[in-house]
Amino acid sequence: MATAHNRAQREEIARVVLMPGDPLRAKYIAEKFLSSLVLINDVRNMLGYTGMYKGKRMTVMGSGMGCGSMGIYSHELFNKYDCEVIVRAGSCGAYAPDLQLKEIIVEDSCYSESTYARTYSGYEGSIVYPDEELSNRLYAQAQQHGALCRKGRVHTSDCFYYKKKEDLEDLCGRKGCLGVDMESFALLHNAAVAQKKAAVLLTVSDHPQRKEKLSREERERSFDEMIEIALDTLWT
Ligand code: ADE
Repeated sequence: MATAHNRAQREEIARVVLMPGDPLRAKYIAEKFLSSLVLINDVRNMLGYTGMYKGKRMTVMGSGMGCGSMGIYSHELFNKYDCEVIVRAGSCGAYAPDLQLKEIIVEDSCYSESTYARTYSGYEGSIVYPDEELSNRLYAQAQQHGALCRKGRVHTSDCFYYKKKEDLEDLCGRKGCLGVDMESFALLHNAAVAQKKAAVLLTVSDHPQRKEKLSREERERSFDEMIEIALDTLWT
């Protein structure tokens, strides 16, 4: 049953999956929050673990960076491993001037100029949506945790580095994107095509216009809060 990218057998992966981008963050989350851990994948060091969170079986696995990588892993989880729910918990850069570092964004939609969806399924649109109920639960859980949090649209970009200036007036002003990541679009599109559930929450890790970014220690502490919000949502 293993794939070229994942050595896990079907029964080793839970129906519910939490996906940070960084595989070492998946290891950190698994070791800190899950019990009865089993390492289920290490192909290309894309670490995945299955364990128990407050009595519920869950898998935590890295997605890697970009739509290409997220596209591969989430496609396999939904279509070959029969996963039902994936929540991406990652980082994003801020576009909206009033966003604070460490603030959490729960996506209500995702815009991208990426060709991922067209290539994957023939979808010609540039906006994709998370499962509404799952997103609402993430947002409610964030509020219950007392986290600084807002709901909104995020831009998924194929580039982290740019030779041309980003058009923030268009991306933030006209298209209404609060911030930018590199993976949400592929995850949400794959989920929609597979008729499965996916949602995204992101911690603001940098504010390029204000030349601000979180230190490594701040990143770790604020990401812990986001992870607990995601795990508690997946648990309910
Ligand atoms: N993830 C975190 N910060 C980002 C940025 N500035 N652009 C794209 N993805 C990001």
